[in-house]
Amino acid sequence: MKIVDLIKKIPKAELHLHIEGCLEPQLMLKLAKRNNIEIPFKNSKEIKKAYNFHNLQDFLNIYYQGAKVLIEEQDFFDLTWAYMLKSKKENIVHTEIFFDPQTHTTRGIEFNIIINGIHGAILKAEKELGISARIILCFLRHLDEKSAFKILDKALEHKEKIIGVGLDSSEINNPPRKFKNVFKQAMEEGFLTVAHAGEEGPPEYIWEALDILKVQRIDHGINCLKDTKLVERLKRDQVPLTVCPLSNIRLCVFKKLEDHNLKKLLDKGLMVTVNSDDPAYFGGYLNKNLIKCHGALNFLKKDIKKLAINSFKSSFLNKHYKKKWIDKINYLTN
Ligand code: HPA
Ligand code: ZN
Repeated sequence: MKIVDLIKKIPKAELHLHIEGCLEPQLMLKLAKRNNIEIPFKNSKEIKKAYNFHNLQDFLNIYYQGAKVLIEEQDFFDLTWAYMLKSKKENIVHTEIFFDPQTHTTRGIEFNIIINGIHGAILKAEKELGISARIILCFLRHLDEKSAFKILDKALEHKEKIIGVGLDSSEINNPPRKFKNVFKQAMEEGFLTVAHAGEEGPPEYIWEALDILKVQRIDHGINCLKDTKLVERLKRDQVPLTVCPLSNIRLCVFKKLEDHNLKKLLDKGLMVTVNSDDPAYFGGYLNKNLIKCHGALNFLKKDIKKLAINSFKSSFLNKHYKKKWIDKINYLTN
């Protein structure tokens, strides 16, 4: 089998995906019209032209602006359902979706509306598409811990729909330790934990996410290579890193894909996975991330197989399902 066909065909889990980052220009225009929201764009071409980022903050400004078209439960449902249909086409059989409730509650949208829209679409996807999905609530790190506590309170009313909590938004000057208490409480309530760290921020932020927030996975984590002790720790504990190559290029963390350290991370024996982050903004869903990496970093069949297996090992699926999918990958690649 050709490697591009293998990438398309192999079952995959996606573990770093912001649902607000799946808002394609066409849907943004449709929802703006449906909800009577003014946006500064007339068509998809104009929207895409605005997606010219120099760093994370440039992107976040546009991303939070785009999210303003999401008003009703149906909007959150449509957004999530569109991603589920994409996932089906890409052979993503399991996905763990981030959502940013504070982006919406601060505009007066009720927590219930957001979570019920997203959850409704994943129930339909489980039933009709055979995709398993989980929801992870991300706290916005540019806001304070008090605001995060308020959102955690809301989440407790929907505990059965949310598997874990994470941390995203502007990384620099918002270290993980700022959220020590709210992560502790979330864990006591039974939520699993992850955090963005080492995307633009220093290795110390990855240490803090591990040792202070006690997370199970690091989102991005690419700056770990600047600290050999940290690499040893990540390797020893096989801490998953949910790497997002096209995102890192679009946000200028690396100049070009050929410069990305993904292959180095893999070759050092770290538990690396590949993900799409905000595919509507960064020019590609999961398979495109893998195909582009194959082209730029000379990924071989064994690398693709390893990444697919890692995606299930790193997921929050139970042992039984992990084994089921890993057996299937081994069978397909024999
Ligand atoms: N980093 C931080 N915050 C985000 C990202 C990201 O890659 N995507 C959406 N919110
Ligand atoms: Zn992210």
